[in-house]
Amino acid sequence: MIIFNSGAQLKLYLKNLQNQQKSLGFVPTMGALHRGHISLIEAARAQCEPVVCSIFVNPTQFNDLSDLQNYPRTFEADCQMLESAGCDVVFAPAVSEMYSAKELELKRLAVEDKSWAEGRTVDFGVLAEVMEGAHRPGHFNGVAQVVSKLFRIIEADKAYFGQKDFQQLAIIRSMVKQLGMPVEIIACPIVREANGLAMSSRNERLTAEERNIASLISKTLFKVKELKTSQTIADLKAIAAEEIKTEPKIQLEYFEISDTETLQPIADYSQNKNAVACIAVKLGSVRLIDNVVF
Ligand code: PAF
Repeated sequence: MIIFNSGAQLKLYLKNLQNQQKSLGFVPTMGALHRGHISLIEAARAQCEPVVCSIFVNPTQFNDLSDLQNYPRTFEADCQMLESAGCDVVFAPAVSEMYSAKELELKRLAVEDKSWAEGRTVDFGVLAEVMEGAHRPGHFNGVAQVVSKLFRIIEADKAYFGQKDFQQLAIIRSMVKQLGMPVEIIACPIVREANGLAMSSRNERLTAEERNIASLISKTLFKVKELKTSQTIADLKAIAAEEIKTEPKIQLEYFEISDTETLQPIADYSQNKNAVACIAVKLGSVRLIDNVVF
């Protein structure tokens, strides 16, 4: 496995690879890798050669400075996991490699005066107005900004994303379509811990007790899924809110049942069966999201 910090050197290396027969696979990450990420590497490994993984904690997608500062950074352990999973290339750029000072300043100003729409090159429309988009203003601008930069450097044939970030996947697909990028986006299933908690780098910040408690998040989603045909959407939402309330340490941020394509809330499951239930909660200082497709 070879590690690059420079985008230009990585680009040159990938160009010089004579492997025209096989697809180039790419897994973008922010590090603090877990089995969920490794499942993406394995999916890429099965279809591609080489497999490139980026590790970059992207400052422009954080709208909360303490979340950025507390984001776990475990580069050595990440590289060991990647090597064992058969990753060929790691791209680990510094912030200055990915962003000019001007871009970072613009982001800082956007956070301060909430002028998210300015300087935006892709318009996600209503896709970005709900759920994560509504609760983390500017987040998807930052995600699209870094992913488009990474796509331009790596020029992958296939890029792999986890379905835990359901809305992110829709945003990336929309971006790729709008910018006409020649990369196939592949969605991979959520990987869960034994108690059902969706794997996330943020789980590292939970205590053992909180990890136990956090199993309520997926239990709630699966319960709602089970009841999907016997209850109205309004009742399903009320049931989810009641379930979450049984654990005082968990604060519900949102629970939505949405169309899987448009991500807009649906009114009636019998009229729209392409539904996904999405949830975001705060457990202590840690924000967790999860979803289940009906
Ligand atoms: O899903 C993530 O880890 C990040 O949002 C991504 C796609 C690597 C962009 O920074």
